[in-house]
Amino acid sequence: MKKDERESGMAQEAASGAAIPSGCAYVNLPPSTMLNPVPVVLVSCAERGRPENRNAITVAWAGTVNSDPPMVSISVRKERYSHGLLEQSGEFVINLVDEVLLAAADFCGVRSGREVNKAQAAGFAYSPMASMDTAPAIEGAPASLGCRVRQVMALGSHDLFLAEVTAVRVRADLVDEKGAVHLEKAGMVAYNHGLYQRLGEVLGFFGWSVAREDVRARRMAEYASRREHEKAERAKTGKSGGQTGKKTEKPEAGKPASGKKGKSGTVSSGKHRSSPPGYRR
Ligand SMILES: Cc1cc2nc3c(=O)[nH]c(=O)nc-3n(C[C@H](O)[C@H](O)[C@H](O)COP(=O)(O)O)c2cc1C
Repeated sequence: MKKDERESGMAQEAASGAAIPSGCAYVNLPPSTMLNPVPVVLVSCAERGRPENRNAITVAWAGTVNSDPPMVSISVRKERYSHGLLEQSGEFVINLVDEVLLAAADFCGVRSGREVNKAQAAGFAYSPMASMDTAPAIEGAPASLGCRVRQVMALGSHDLFLAEVTAVRVRADLVDEKGAVHLEKAGMVAYNHGLYQRLGEVLGFFGWSVAREDVRARRMAEYASRREHEKAERAKTGKSGGQTGKKTEKPEAGKPASGKKGKSGTVSSGKHRSSPPGYRR
């Protein structure tokens, strides 16, 4: 069989085994932000010159916009308390949200830092973030990205903060001994048209539809067996999130748990790989 014949067969084989439907009925709606799912992240920031004035805002309008240099954007309404802090400090930290952090994330999205100390009320702590002068990271987040604002664009309802990622930290239990990052283990949450939804089973991987059969089978078997193991761990510990029963050393703010000391309390394996295998930028 020719390569393109083999590949087209593979590409048509949906993860569910179902054929891609045609001739569906659709309902036309007015223009809106229907792009879904999107991430839900906790953006932490602080006032330059008064770093004790810290805040966290929940953001769904966040995205990756460039690979080299790594750049992201967040869109924030002018009336948010955080908007002033972002503008004044020119910095923020994007903290990814897992099931454990989800209630705190929702809380930070419905209460303002003008009225409440969100960290105290929602029960999370800040810690220093490498490369940031003022913006702190949020403890317990699966990963945090330190971001330096390069441009602010007024779009209408929101201002878009275009920023360069100048530091990244990933929770040590999500990095294996070879330095590969396993965010699939983090129990992360997506925001899907007003609902928070858990990211579940691995259905495929980058290039999966055209991967060699043996590679595909081996990788998928690995994910399936890991999932079974995690399910069993969760059943044992009663935890619902991605953090399995394995107790991880909790680093004190500013101090690494173990391994090589990073700039601000992060653990560095020295072999860290931020992109999944096979991923091209
Ligand atoms: C799931 C979710 C997503 C949100 N996404 C955004 C967003 O992308 N941009 C924004 O300006 N506000 C967003 N909000 C609203 C702010 O988080 C909310 O107004 C918050 O209370 C502002 O906090 P602050 O006044 O302390 O800055 C979102 C809220 C939730 C619950």
